[in-house]
Amino acid sequence: MITALTADASAKIILFGEHAVVYGTPAIAAPVSSLRAAAQVQPEAPGTGLRIAVHDLAQLLPVDPGSSGQLDNALVVTARLVLAALDVPPPDATIHLRSQIPMASGLGSGAAVSTALARALSAYLGQPLELSALNAVIFEVEKLHHHTPSGIDNTVIVYEQPVYYVRSQPIEPIRIGAPLHILIGDTGTGALTKTAVDAVRALYNHDTAGVQTLFDSITTLVMRARSAIEEGDLTRIGRLMDENHAHLARLTVSSHTLDRLVEAARMAGAFGAKLSGGGRGGNMITLVDEFHRPKVEAALLAAGAARVLATTLHPTSSPFDSQPHI
Ligand code: PMV
Repeated sequence: MITALTADASAKIILFGEHAVVYGTPAIAAPVSSLRAAAQVQPEAPGTGLRIAVHDLAQLLPVDPGSSGQLDNALVVTARLVLAALDVPPPDATIHLRSQIPMASGLGSGAAVSTALARALSAYLGQPLELSALNAVIFEVEKLHHHTPSGIDNTVIVYEQPVYYVRSQPIEPIRIGAPLHILIGDTGTGALTKTAVDAVRALYNHDTAGVQTLFDSITTLVMRARSAIEEGDLTRIGRLMDENHAHLARLTVSSHTLDRLVEAARMAGAFGAKLSGGGRGGNMITLVDEFHRPKVEAALLAAGAARVLATTLHPTSSPFDSQPHI
């Protein structure tokens, strides 16, 4: 007898290098393992077909394997790509999706929900996708959200490890030298990654040389950030976060609220702070020590954060030393 099967996936933050990463520069991202999306596949009576129940949006989506794909919901496309990768017909089942990750906020909600779905469906079909095949599926889905994804979101979420990422290059896991206590401040304003990515593209087309100079300094910054993270040098990591936020503001992807939260965190004693992800809303991140953490959290809330989440990146002795959730 086939029984229900559950899988999940984490949220993510981008520590350094968002936006420029779309143009081939390096970036660093890490999973937020305490914040997750989950999928459960429930068998149904013969003839029901495959359906996706998105509980947070009260949607029930039928998966028609024959449909064209382009205009479809990203979750339906995910299921269809899994079926195509495994070369199997849709089972009679409902995939129940639930997520703790706020949508359109730079935390990778779309990629996480699709990853959980693809994991659960492929495992239910008896052929769990291995990580690189799963990553390829979720990268295709990311293209629906904005046309030129760098691939960093799907990579960090599928592998659930901190990564140093360069588009189209082999994934490089990054070692964490000392615990990184990070607060994630939510502006409460949703923002589509596509809008921000399009704005950077317009700026790049308008002033290619100027933006390229900015990308070059972001490249150097991300390489320095990698060393600082591996050495556990919190002061240097914080300073580089501040610098990266200034680059992102010049790329026009910050906002008054993001700037206010970043400034509040710094004033309250954080090592540094920056927006994280697409920007123009969504979330900012700030690096704190244990002593300043409550002060910074209070300052973020006083400055208008809709909520503050805490996550810690724990030191790793060797890269990829823990297994992703399947
Ligand atoms: O999905 P978000 O909002 O976390 O942004 C992804 C990061 C970008 O660099 C802005 C886009 C990309 O494809 O890398």
